[in-house]
Amino acid sequence: MEKIGRNDPCWCGSGKKYKKCHCDIDEIIKEHELLGEIVPPRSIIKNKEQIDGIRESAKINTAVLDYVAENIREGVTTEDIDRWVYEKTIELGAYPAPLDYEGFPKSVCTSINEVVCHGIPSENVVLKDGDIINVDVSTIYNNYFGDASRMFCIGNVSEEKKKLVEVTKEAVYLGLEQVKPWAHLGDIGQVINDLAKKNGYSVVREIGGHGIGLEFHEDPWVSYVTKKGTDMLLVPGMIFTIEPMINMGTHRITHDETDGWTVRTADGKPSAQWEIQVLVTDNGYEVLSF
Ligand code: MF3
Ligand code: CO
Repeated sequence: MEKIGRNDPCWCGSGKKYKKCHCDIDEIIKEHELLGEIVPPRSIIKNKEQIDGIRESAKINTAVLDYVAENIREGVTTEDIDRWVYEKTIELGAYPAPLDYEGFPKSVCTSINEVVCHGIPSENVVLKDGDIINVDVSTIYNNYFGDASRMFCIGNVSEEKKKLVEVTKEAVYLGLEQVKPWAHLGDIGQVINDLAKKNGYSVVREIGGHGIGLEFHEDPWVSYVTKKGTDMLLVPGMIFTIEPMINMGTHRITHDETDGWTVRTADGKPSAQWEIQVLVTDNGYEVLSF
């Protein structure tokens, strides 16, 4: 890394002098790095202008989720949800990030019951009484990215499935409480995995959260089976998602060979997921989209 003078412009692009911007933060990062810890590359530490842009995109993302929440009910198809997401996102001046992303054919992921994630909306899939569904919305606005997902319970859902949905939401909140400067990503994974285990559930290992903002998926990759004190150091200006997938039975999953996307639990038991987009601030966190 090239040496920056204290009076030079900061590397973050803020236009401020280095000594008035990231100089102090860099000192602390260096101390952690010398201890052998994983520290974030500068490319994923956002400046104020970028954070403001990502916040706007995330706001639209939340508004689209709110719109889904107002309309989702028994009898609608996942294709209907896809249309709502597309139309609402466009109406708000943004674009749905999943559409054509690595060949994904729709604007949103809809994952019902044993579908863990990446379910593809279809006119043949009708929401029925007792279903639990994850709706995962991602937005591009002015080249900035928003991403969050929620669970919805359709009609009379069994106590067993309702509890899975509630515990998974609680897991995200517990994870969120760990987010502050100089903590570690592993702190989040530890509390989420502990809570899942305590309830007799398991956490999906192969799919996780991700850095986000200037790209849909950036570093770091966020696992929910990591240990406290391990994994990447959290630094102000980092933005990532907390999105654990928690299964009622085995943690093992299968990938649909036919559509190339749908991920299911290997034992066919239900899975739940909530996703929150969070910014590491100077003294804690700010929720950007949920
Ligand atoms: N929102 C999902 C995520 O958190 C997006 C999956 S990619 C898609 O990564 F193409 F399936 F949309
Ligand atoms: Co995501």
